[in-house]
Amino acid sequence: MFTINDNYLKLQGSYLFSNIAKKVAAYKEENPQANIIRLGIGDVTQPLAPVIIEALHKAVDEMGTPEGFHGYGPEQGYEFLRSAIAKNDYQARGCQIDADEIFVSDGAKCDVGNIQEIFGIDNKVAVCDPVYPVYVDTNVMAGRAGSFDQAIGGFNQLIYMPCTEENGFAPELPNEVPDMIYLCFPNNPTGAAITKDALQAWVDYANKNGSVILYDAAYEAYISEPGIPHSIYECEGARTCAIEMHSFSKNAGFTGLRLGYTVIPKELVCNGVSLHSLWNRRHGTKYNGAPYIVQRAGEAVYSEEGKKQLQAQVAYYMENARLIREGLADAGFTAYGGVNAPYIWLKTPDGLTSWEFFDKLLHEVQVVGTPGSGFGASGEGFFRLTAFGTKESTIEALARIRRL
Ligand code: MLT
Repeated sequence: MFTINDNYLKLQGSYLFSNIAKKVAAYKEENPQANIIRLGIGDVTQPLAPVIIEALHKAVDEMGTPEGFHGYGPEQGYEFLRSAIAKNDYQARGCQIDADEIFVSDGAKCDVGNIQEIFGIDNKVAVCDPVYPVYVDTNVMAGRAGSFDQAIGGFNQLIYMPCTEENGFAPELPNEVPDMIYLCFPNNPTGAAITKDALQAWVDYANKNGSVILYDAAYEAYISEPGIPHSIYECEGARTCAIEMHSFSKNAGFTGLRLGYTVIPKELVCNGVSLHSLWNRRHGTKYNGAPYIVQRAGEAVYSEEGKKQLQAQVAYYMENARLIREGLADAGFTAYGGVNAPYIWLKTPDGLTSWEFFDKLLHEVQVVGTPGSGFGASGEGFFRLTAFGTKESTIEALARIRRL
């Protein structure tokens, strides 16, 4: 009789956002007339920018000609895109990252989930609490988390770094030294940002202790304040301790198109073994590269016109963030985030749990958000709203929340 990977049995029945989708679908079935506003999952709503559409059309036409047809491409991504990323996201910011240190993929979620495969199974893993569930779940699936402990509301082999109102949602350097450290800034779900000095302290800590930092920079396009690093490689010494992952979903609206990338500097080694080579080996074995057409669309993100159009799109969502932040404050809520990130992290009123508040919003005013406790024990008593709705639906959602 075959056996299964019973680490999967340690996971909650379904992924947080699938769980929410199921609850919303059930409500809709009972209330077919309900006009539900969805500010739950961080999915964009604005159509792709004209410059992206133009690049897609052009690449599609090329693929229909003998000269322009592209079959399997390089697994790591086409040179044209890797160079554009290196130049714009790194070298222009004074970070020393070369095109051949970049691995293009079909999205940051896959990379963030798969990266743990190249690390030892006994590694201790530190995560923020609350946290994007993918970091935890993929380590649980791999057998790197132990068992669930109700008392701590988490897995006994993981190191949870509480991010609370008291510490400004900034994790403290853990006393027990982790081998792998997941950081995400600007943060999902709290919307908190990290200063360059604070991030430098993490880089120094990792280099001193032989830890690796897995840095999720999916929301960097939303940074609006000075002194906030757009990349971990702005910190001295990050090339020897950090892997960085990026998405095209949030800055360019590719949630349905799919494109992302991971940076592994060549200096990042473990006992003389290069992590870049390991990931290259893994990528070549399990992946045949992102579609040519989508990579051409990714290249357009870095054109002068692309930058202009996408800045306008980010500004549109950040205006929603401002409306939510200020609207909630006016209505007497305590809310954080929304300044350098498209997420607003609010305290649930009247001592309601996160899920009680979720149900109240859904049932009474038909607004969907994400319960903070779905991101971890320290998220209990909080609730996340996303700024990725349309302006009209955001305004309407706030009016409904005020009515509560
Ligand atoms: C979220 O809502 O946390 C994100 O949209 C999830 C994701 O990017 O995969």
